[in-house]
Amino acid sequence: MDQGEISLSEREFSRIKNRVYRVAGISLSDAKRTLVISRLSKIVRSLGLASFDAYVDYLEHGGSAADGQDFVNALTTNLTRFYREDHHFEHLRSYVGGLIASKPRSTRLRIWSAGCSTGQEPYTIGLDLLAAFPELKRWDFKILATDIDTAVIAKAAGGIYPENELSGLSAERARPFQRLGNGTIKVPEAVRELVSFKPLNLIGPWPMKGPFDAIFCRNVAIYFDKPTQGEVFGRFNALLAPEGFLYIGHSENLGSGGDGFRLVGKTIYQSKLQLNKREAA
Ligand SMILES: C[S@@+](CC[C@H](N)C(=O)[O-])C[C@H]1O[C@@H](n2cnc3c(N)ncnc32)[C@H](O)[C@@H]1O
Repeated sequence: MDQGEISLSEREFSRIKNRVYRVAGISLSDAKRTLVISRLSKIVRSLGLASFDAYVDYLEHGGSAADGQDFVNALTTNLTRFYREDHHFEHLRSYVGGLIASKPRSTRLRIWSAGCSTGQEPYTIGLDLLAAFPELKRWDFKILATDIDTAVIAKAAGGIYPENELSGLSAERARPFQRLGNGTIKVPEAVRELVSFKPLNLIGPWPMKGPFDAIFCRNVAIYFDKPTQGEVFGRFNALLAPEGFLYIGHSENLGSGGDGFRLVGKTIYQSKLQLNKREAA
């Protein structure tokens, strides 16, 4: 055990698992024991508490909302990168290209990145679509980016990343980023303006009405159990526009939430319910 780490009994581990499941829907496996110790020990010490039992008691009786948020922030996994799972952006580009070519009366385009982590996913959507279709600047085009973790949302809103985030990107994709000269890069202003970052718990109420033309919820539901996954995917369906798409992570599937969708590509789904509604209209 590292200096500063606190021992975690079975009972304490189980209390922590129950709490993070209840408040965030995150289902921690027994393999996550070491992760819990390493991520929470510092917080427990900083509160001047001696054990994880005392910490959970504190959260349950007297801890502030900020303490509760720190607990959740510490237990999320935020791995992400620009242009992750590239085929989704390719598909979105062709869908939006079709929308533009059809000369719709409405030039409203809404995309939701649900579980956006530090922002690389919504910024990729903006970068990719603006590069392909500069006319979108004249559209009512907005990207909503949400995450339960308030620390990643704050980082995302700044739009600044270490330069090595660009490694692996083609010169063409790397070009729009502003070089700040201190080993960091910045997302271009035109793209930052498209994206609104907001804290949102996917297992809580959603204030948005939609409809969204596309929803990205990738590598998020993997942390939920099957019933929670089914419920969240079903709720996405109700917020999708006709012919809208849901993109999920490479190792995920819709499970019981998949009834209202049809699979149209690798981890790409289209809402059947919405198509039926449109056909009936
Ligand atoms: C691995 S990241 C995925 C980032 C991005 N979507 C991607 O695929 O690159 C998973 C994100 O899901 C978020 N998350 C976990 N539980 C959540 C919940 N209940 N509501 C909203 N976001 C959640 C985490 O905070 C984390 O930032």
